[in-house]
Parts: sequence; structure tokens; C-alpha cells
Amino acid sequence: MRVYQVSGYREMSQRAADLIIAQILLNPQSVLGLATGSTPIGVYERLVEKHNRGELDCSGLTTFNLDEYCGLSEEDPQSYHYFMNSHLFSKVNIRKDKIHIPDPSGDIEKECKQYDSLIEAHGGIDLQLLGIGNNGHIGFNEPGTVYEGGTHCVDLDESTIQANARFFDNPDDVPRKAVTMGMKSIMLAKKVLLIANGEAKKAILEKSLYGPITPMVPASVLQLHPGLIVVWSAD
Ligand code: F6R
Repeated sequence: MRVYQVSGYREMSQRAADLIIAQILLNPQSVLGLATGSTPIGVYERLVEKHNRGELDCSGLTTFNLDEYCGLSEEDPQSYHYFMNSHLFSKVNIRKDKIHIPDPSGDIEKECKQYDSLIEAHGGIDLQLLGIGNNGHIGFNEPGTVYEGGTHCVDLDESTIQANARFFDNPDDVPRKAVTMGMKSIMLAKKVLLIANGEAKKAILEKSLYGPITPMVPASVLQLHPGLIVVWSAD
């Protein structure tokens, strides 16, 4: 595990973006795993800036997002489809047919199986970007007694619903369910880039990186990942 402690959100975003850019320059056909939430917004801004300067070609990339809420349409501003479009996909030259986000609108079980098969068919994820929930979740793999391997449907933890209520006008509108990539898909990524910032994430990050490995702290399993890079800022 490599841990970079940096100073502030800007530096965290730049450092993480530099690592992703290096991955893309070394392999323009990379398969990237992507995250949503407030933490990666600055990383996506840096990628867009680099692209706008004519220094980043995303046309060969394939992307797989970690998760999506159930019950929101792709056009809903709170959906992760909408988030990814507005922060990244509409601003760089990623091909639309190479973008993958779980689609919970139809037969969810079938969708989950297809999602995992598609990741496998692409040879797995080269670099997976992750944020971390206040309760230690990665993707929407919530604390529990078992690790769910593949893409699956989850009941969101009460603490996640409360944490994500900040994005919604009415806390009752926060979806209670989501589809998420499982721990196996995340752990099979060749490299994992975990980003976090702020005092509120300090305790859970320390617990995840240095505490016992347990499904009650899902991110703790990342200690077993040989290619884990953490970029973290306390402020
Ligand atoms: C989002 C995701 C979540 C977030 C986590 C942290 O795709 O998978 O695990 O990374 O909830 O969210 P923020 O960055 O908003 O603190």
C-alpha cells in the first residue's frame, strides 16, 4: 500500500488526477473504474482541464462506474448517470458505447450478471477510483457480516442515506436501494486509487487502512490489495 498524505482538496485532486493521467498515457486503451460523490469532482475537473489543453485523449478508454441508485431515471440530476455526464463524460472524448454504469431499471439480477461479464470480457479493470463512505463503504458495499462478490442490489445503510441527503432537496427523496459493483470486482482491479479528504473521513480511513480486516468495515479489505494507492488530505 502506498499512502500519499497531501495538503487540501486541490492537491488531493491533482495528485489523483496525475495518477489517472499516467495510467491513460501508458495505456490509452485502459479500463477505468469510476466513482461518484463529492470527493472525485476535483479529480474529474483536472482531467477535463488536461483534455481541454489537448493533452489527454480519452477516445480509447472504457469505463465502468461503481454504482447507481435504484428508482431514479438517467436524466434525474441526482442519478449517477447524470453526475458522470455532467462532470466528465460530456466534457471529454470518451466514446458513449464504452461507458458503462449499472442500470437498475429492468431485470436487476440479469443486469448485475451482465455487468460482471462485461467487466470480465474487457480483461478486468486496470485502475479503480474509489471514495470512502463515513461508515467505511466502498461503492455501496455497506458494512455487514459477509463480502458480496459480484455486482448486486443493496439496501443502503441508514448512515449512507443520511450522508447523501445533502444532495437532495428533501431527505425522503434519497433512494433506499442501489446497485453496486461487489467487493470481488473491486479487488480484482489491477490498481485501486482510494481518495479521501476532510476531518470527517480521518477515523474511518485509519480504521480501514490499519485496523482489523472485517466486512463490518468494507474498505479494510483493501489492505489485501497489492496495488492500493491512497491519496488523502486531512483538511
Ligand atoms: C460513489 C460511491 C461511494 C462514495 C462514498 C463517498 O460512487 O461509490 O462509495 O465514494 O459514499 O462519497 P463522498 O465522496 O460524497 O464523500
